Amino acid sequence: MKKDNRLTLGIIGCGTIGRLHVRNILQNFFDVEIRCICDIDIEKVRTWAKKESLPDQIRFTTDLEDVMEDEKIDAVVIATQITQHTDILIRSIEAGKDIFCEKQIGVDPVKIKKVIDLAEKNGVKLQVGFHRRFDTNYIKARDMIKKGSVGEIQIVRAITRLPESLPARYLKKGLFAGHFNEVTSHDFDILRYITDSEIEELFSIGKVLIEPRFADIDDYDTIMVSLRFDNGSIGNVDGSMQATYGFDQRVEVFGSKGCIFINNQRPNQMFLYDGTAGKIDRLLHEGWSSKQAHELFYMTRYKDAFIMEFREFFRSIIDNTEPICTGLDGLKNILVCDAAKKSADTNKPVKIDYSICK
Ligand SMILES: NC(=O)c1ccc[n+]([C@@H]2O[C@H](COP(=O)([O-])OP(=O)(O)OC[C@H]3O[C@@H](n4cnc5c(N)ncnc54)[C@H](O)[C@@H]3O)[C@@H](O)[C@H]2O)c1
Repeated sequence: MKKDNRLTLGIIGCGTIGRLHVRNILQNFFDVEIRCICDIDIEKVRTWAKKESLPDQIRFTTDLEDVMEDEKIDAVVIATQITQHTDILIRSIEAGKDIFCEKQIGVDPVKIKKVIDLAEKNGVKLQVGFHRRFDTNYIKARDMIKKGSVGEIQIVRAITRLPESLPARYLKKGLFAGHFNEVTSHDFDILRYITDSEIEELFSIGKVLIEPRFADIDDYDTIMVSLRFDNGSIGNVDGSMQATYGFDQRVEVFGSKGCIFINNQRPNQMFLYDGTAGKIDRLLHEGWSSKQAHELFYMTRYKDAFIMEFREFFRSIIDNTEPICTGLDGLKNILVCDAAKKSADTNKPVKIDYSICK
């Protein structure tokens, strides 16, 4: 338990999501200080920081040790690319920093298990950035499912269709962790979390229908996964990167007593009924520009959840409680993503072996 409510942070990796976290922390948590930002492309970050008028006292560095050796830093936010997370995690644990790490916490399950054990041994908090867990709709759904509102769960479904392909700078071998880890991991996590059930087997199909670069890195831009859960229910997840109508992210939980739908949030409550069957329920009016469509992307949809995940992280440090999304949740998710990739590559169902998690 921390003696006072003040926390001092180091940020490691300050690109797309790192900048969102920096903004959210500075605007919402007045007892939290960002002391240092470390990024290999620090000049870009410095230019951004100036434009955003970030506090002058923040130190900018390319050297991870400037964060690790600073005893005033209590905790770190790791937001580099997935494939770099595990080594930074190990160093942060050795330095005794509590950790918020963006998903996924790595790509090698054996190494990740060592990270989890080391964090536990050293008494370091580790929260993984599956932000959907902090969205009020999912919190409510989980609560209702627990109370039996849908009865016995029979079918679950999650959809994540991005408005466009991921940027070309991500799609590099050795850097990109794959569609399942980079995107679908959120669907696997939220289905596990709200149904309180593990995915035990899956069968997936992957295709390259949109962005040929995915073929060059042996990956898929379009995926469909059938799931078998250990509570006896079945489910599926689909993912695309060409939702022309804007970010499309929905979940259904269907059971013996009813169904919970978590639909997309709309920019307004207007519906267009134009006599064209099947087109009445648009996310966006078709006349909207693609820029407006992007304003509806994940940062907008999950605006509050991205703040709440930090509220919970800070609370877990100050009150010395277990984070809501733990390293073990992160590891289980990686095992599911690995199974999904293997299944798509081999065209065979794959059972998930969780024995490493014990
Ligand atoms: N929760 C979400 O919805 C969500 C959304 C986007 C990204 N992410 C996750 O956030 C992480 C980062 O994604 P992004 O889109 O911000 O990537 P990005 O490429 O925009 O940013 C990564 C940043 O890390 C820096 N960097 C790279 N290697 C570094 C190192 N060794 N030390 C310090 N800095 C380093 C890069 O210069 C860059 O500024 C990934 O794990 C990704 O999966 C999560």
